[in-house]
Formats: sequence, C-alpha cells, structure tokens
Amino acid sequence: MLILGADEVRDVLDGAETDVLEVVRQAYLLHAREQTAVPHSVFLRFPDDERNRIIALPAYLGSDTPVAGMKWIASFPGNVAAGRERASATMILNSMRTGEPEAILEASTISARRTAASAAIAAATLTAATPDTGVTLVGCGVINFEVLRFLRAALPELQAVTLFDLDPQRAERFGRRCAHQWPELAITVAEGIEPAMAAHRLVCLATTASRPHLDARHCRPGTLILHLSLRDLLPDTVRSATNIVDDADHACRAATSLDLAARQTGNRDFIATSIGEVLAATTPYRRDEHGLTVFSPFGLGILDLAVADLARRAAERLGLGTRLPGFLPTPEPAPAQATV
Ligand SMILES: NC(=O)c1ccc[n+]([C@@H]2O[C@H](COP(=O)([O-])OP(=O)(O)OC[C@H]3O[C@@H](n4cnc5c(N)ncnc54)[C@H](O)[C@@H]3O)[C@@H](O)[C@H]2O)c1
Repeated sequence: MLILGADEVRDVLDGAETDVLEVVRQAYLLHAREQTAVPHSVFLRFPDDERNRIIALPAYLGSDTPVAGMKWIASFPGNVAAGRERASATMILNSMRTGEPEAILEASTISARRTAASAAIAAATLTAATPDTGVTLVGCGVINFEVLRFLRAALPELQAVTLFDLDPQRAERFGRRCAHQWPELAITVAEGIEPAMAAHRLVCLATTASRPHLDARHCRPGTLILHLSLRDLLPDTVRSATNIVDDADHACRAATSLDLAARQTGNRDFIATSIGEVLAATTPYRRDEHGLTVFSPFGLGILDLAVADLARRAAERLGLGTRLPGFLPTPEPAPAQATV
C-alpha cells in the first residue's frame, strides 16, 4: 500500500499543469468512447443539516493501463469561517488485476485541480472567433484559484481577471494572492455581480450557492459561462443557453440548475452535447457569437482517477510517499498435499 499525503501530492502536481490537462482530456475522450464506468455519486447528508455533505464517487477508467477507485469528499462550508478548507477528500486506487486497494491519496488538491483542468479544457475548446483575453471569477475560493492556474496554462492570451465574491474581503485577499503568484495579470475586484458578469466573455462560477440566483442579462453576447458550482444560474437562463455538459445523466441530478430546468421542461432537449463529444469531433467547436454558452460539469470520478493515477505514478518514480507493506492480510499458505 502506498500512502500519499497532501504535500507529496502537491509536490508531484505543482508545475504539471500540462500533464493534468492531458490526462483530463483523455478521460473525457475515453468517456465519449464508452470506455469508462461512472455510477452515480452517492450523497451522504445528515438529519436537520442542509449544508454539510460527504460524497462518494466510484469510477473506472479504461485504457491500456486501466484504473479503478473512489473519491470520498466532504463539503462542510462552515469550515471556512473557522479558517479551514471547505472540502476535504481521500482517494483509493484499486488494482485492476486483483481488485485490491493499492494506494490511498489525500485528494483535495487532486479534486480541485481536475475540476480546474476541466474548466480550462472547456474554455480552450469552446472557442470564440477572437481569443478570450480576460476572465471573470465569481466566488473567490479554492476552486477558482485553481481555475486561474489552469486557464493560464490553457489560454496563453489571458491578461485580465475580474473578481467578485459575496464576501468582499475574500475577493480582496484572493486578488492579492493572484497578483503575488502571477504579477503579469491585471486583477480587478468588481463592485458588484453585474459589472463582474459584463467584464469579460469568459465567466467562471465557483460559489457555494445552493439555490439559483443569477441570470445572464449583464453578460456580453457570445459569453461562455463555466458553471462549476452548478446551482447559480436560474433554470430559465440555462434553458435559453447552448448547454455543454460532461454527462447529461449526472448533470441533471441533485437540484443542479440543469436538473431544475429538466424538471420544468420534462426533457433534456436544452442540452446540446458533451465536452467528450466536442473533443472527439474532427472539426473545431465555435461557440455562438450572439447567445450564451454554458458548460456544466457535474465532476466525474474518472477525472479524479486520471489525476490520482498521474500523481501515483510520479510519486513512484520519485520514491515519494509512505509504504505500508502489512496493510493487506498475508495470504494463508495453501494446505500441503496429502501423500498417498
Ligand atoms: N463541478 C465540479 O466538478 C466541482 C468540483 C469541485 C467543487 N465544485 C464546486 O465549486 C464550488 C466552489 O468550491 P470552493 O472549494 O472554491 O469553495 P470555497 O468555499 O473555497 O469558496 C466559495 C466562495 O464563494 C463565495 N460565494 C458564495 N455564494 C456566493 C455568491 N452568491 N456570489 C458570489 N460569491 C459567493 C464564498 O464567499 C466563497 O468565497 C462549490 O460549490 C463546489 O461544490 C464543483
């Protein structure tokens, strides 16, 4: 058994944005080719508690070196006020030969970076006629910080960033952190959600809103919204947009804006296609220059598997992590053959 803690996972993933983007892209392609298994995630909720949850995401990713496993990720929003991260996560990777668990990884970084990589892939794939040089980030937390890291890798033209958070102090702090990490970017904190939505044609929503509260009336024509938090946009806004998902069966669940839109219409006809199909297509995608495009990734367990496997392999190459040889029971010796 190999155990990788948070520092070791970061050691191998820091600076590996191109590799993370590539394994996430491959995972979407394998999903489009039906070489994956992604059962619905299970939401563990608690009596009289609307906010906290722990989600299990089991998955299988087929390829020349197939991998299976599960992410177990908790979201406790109250942690933030207490100075802790909202989300914490663990991953188990299983052998596809024996089924036995082979590795346990701290997975909050894996989860945040695979989410950010999926957003950056969508931004680089769902292209406009002129490249996006600016992005608006709504929700100044862990996920949007990682989104910016991956957008820089996927969109080399990116120069300007506009921030908005319900908590202005979080936006200011986030801005200072970005300016320190990427001094070449022009960072602005918006006065309100309206100017933020209007600032650029690329918008990433990563808030903790649990009920839709936002329309796109202030967006510029041709805007792409990366709707990572899944529950910000009003169902009517979703229905009027060109919608790209990671997997429609997953994205239309758990009271997401798409789920609410599907309940309103009784169908999913408002979903145009999936990112895997767009990536697999032979012609480049060109987004609607006049309307709104919305990318809503539910967050498939195969992305966690892909990034965790990348981290595990890199750690093995570098000799990182803790080996726990006695974790699994030692097989009983076979009984001696009776002699006749
Ligand atoms: N789709 C996916 O694959 C995926 C994966 C991971 C996380 N997420 C989602 O991304 C979201 C953000 O996660 P995080 O770890 O960055 O959370 P976080 O708690 O670190 O940050 C969220 C920020 O959003 C702000 N916020 C809340 N409501 C807002 C609103 N209405 N307008 C503007 N700002 C608002 C909060 O003040 C906070 O600063 C969560 O909803 C999480 O579930 C999605």
